[in-house]
Amino acid sequence: MCGIVGYIGEKKCAPIILEGLKRLEYRGYDSAGISFLNGNSSGVVKSVGKVSMLEEKLENQSLDYSIGIGHTRWATHGVPNEVNAHPHFNTDKSIYVIHNGIIENYQPIRKRLKAEGVEFVSDTDSEVLPHLIDGFIKKGMSLFEAVRYSLNEVQGTYGVAVISINEPDKIIVAKKGSPLVLGLGVGETFIASDVNALIAHTSRIVYFEDNEIAEVYKDRFYAKTITDEKIEKEIIEVKMALDEIDKGGYDHFMIKEIMEQPESIFNSMRGRLLLGEGTARLGGLDGFVERLCDSKRIILSACGTSWHACLVGEYMLEQFAEIPTEVEYASELRYRNPIINPDDTFIFISQSGETADSLAAMEEAKRRGALVLGICNVVGSSIARKSDAGVYTHAGPEIGVASTKAFTSQLVVLALITLLIARRRKVSLVDGMNIIQEMKKIPQKVEKILKLNDQIEKIAENFVDAKNFLYLGRGYNFPVALEGALKLKEISYIHAEGYPAAEMKHGPIALIDENMPAIFIAPKDSVYDKVISNIEEVKARNGKVIAIASEQDDKIDDLVDYVIKVPDTIRMLMPILTSIPLQLLAYHIAVKKGLNVDQPRNLAKSVTVE
Ligand code: G6P
Repeated sequence: MCGIVGYIGEKKCAPIILEGLKRLEYRGYDSAGISFLNGNSSGVVKSVGKVSMLEEKLENQSLDYSIGIGHTRWATHGVPNEVNAHPHFNTDKSIYVIHNGIIENYQPIRKRLKAEGVEFVSDTDSEVLPHLIDGFIKKGMSLFEAVRYSLNEVQGTYGVAVISINEPDKIIVAKKGSPLVLGLGVGETFIASDVNALIAHTSRIVYFEDNEIAEVYKDRFYAKTITDEKIEKEIIEVKMALDEIDKGGYDHFMIKEIMEQPESIFNSMRGRLLLGEGTARLGGLDGFVERLCDSKRIILSACGTSWHACLVGEYMLEQFAEIPTEVEYASELRYRNPIINPDDTFIFISQSGETADSLAAMEEAKRRGALVLGICNVVGSSIARKSDAGVYTHAGPEIGVASTKAFTSQLVVLALITLLIARRRKVSLVDGMNIIQEMKKIPQKVEKILKLNDQIEKIAENFVDAKNFLYLGRGYNFPVALEGALKLKEISYIHAEGYPAAEMKHGPIALIDENMPAIFIAPKDSVYDKVISNIEEVKARNGKVIAIASEQDDKIDDLVDYVIKVPDTIRMLMPILTSIPLQLLAYHIAVKKGLNVDQPRNLAKSVTVE
């Protein structure tokens, strides 16, 4: 998704902006651009493709500019090409604008400006902004006021940065529905859509809220609301080590993040397990625990992988908390007439905390009076800020587009919330303590599973040319089947479907032949024998079977073609373990196909458009 990086100071801005844009590459984009100012000279350079291509184009230019704004674009209006790439500019190229988000009323504005004689060069919604701003400047306004007036005319979402050749000592930034932060240095200020892009330079961060606008100088900034009220912004010290966002010796972020799971899972539960009381302590829920425990209904809502975590959460909450629980696609919620009551609790799960569909569903749930909680990985993200209360997953930055460690940490946090509610309702101290003992053993068990990496890589060799895959599991492992299939689809482009194993005979079995591999998630649990029957049915039709099975299961080896054995735990925690071999399998198949696993085609890490 689109990224913004800007710099104002004494140094040459291009290398700083390019480096920042590279740190945002994980968000997914299709073109990039940059514009600079120095005194009364300016420049703009754009390219389709990677930031490195933009860098190549800049190599032969004199880059003595100390103010600049850069952008990576993920096309929404108009194809990915140089003209549609940002920055956009006004007719005499005195104003440059980069914009994340969507201007919903761009068509009537564009029509009006065209009638006034403005010529548009791109197909984008964003290009209306420099022309609108230009119009207000011609009426005698300052750049800041012109941007503010322009933003009052647009409907939709924006994170914007604006520079002008006529006021070459400032950058104007504003935010609504699309993240934007400032990084304060000494005699220099950085702007970005994501704190990852500027953490190499400073840890003093200012987060903007919706409808805020600021005039940013190299050594100070002034903020207002776009309705002209003065505001004071807090400066937050963000502690994030740079090596946390580098590849740390691995070939890809995805494998680094898979391998980090013993630590990320541990971090998600660190300080939160109260063994003596057999419960969890979640400081982020303080003041809301009673209302949560008394909820008549819990609705878990999210998109993508986080939605799969919701499905596992539904099993957990119904089994232990005994509160009716439902799972909703965030993208669907607003487009029905959802029956939401004030005694309902919504839990929105989001790695990025910026997913537009989840944010929109959250607003709807709030509007209808429900308690709204968030489970987010990115600290200070929009969902984290806008929910009534919440729990951070603390998985660390996840850069690979395909979510791995964020997912297992979401499952840990769901288990903690379940434990907290369950102990206040029906679950005994002894049972609570048992869950905690099992949770504590998870990081070690994950380490053991990760040692199977070579074995899984060898299995992957046999499936590089597969065209389809079926993933089957029951109970807690049904969502794992869906997540396994999603991982494979996302990065290897192999068609894969997840199904509840027993549903196989109601359709998918028609697809089974020697070319259709089926992955069964079949640990020794209460539905084990039934899953074994389903495996027999696939084998009887010459299907190839890979099983994720329990360590002590010696019966399954003779039945299936490949078996990956994982340690056992209690049922509610099993998805944390069974999902990991599926992450590794998808990873190795994609790598063997020579694909870009960290930035798969057409996908974005953080989908900030509906
Ligand atoms: C995108 C990503 C997925 C992610 C989903 C939800 O589609 O590619 O990996 O699961 O968004 O993102 P969130 O940040 O809300 O968890």
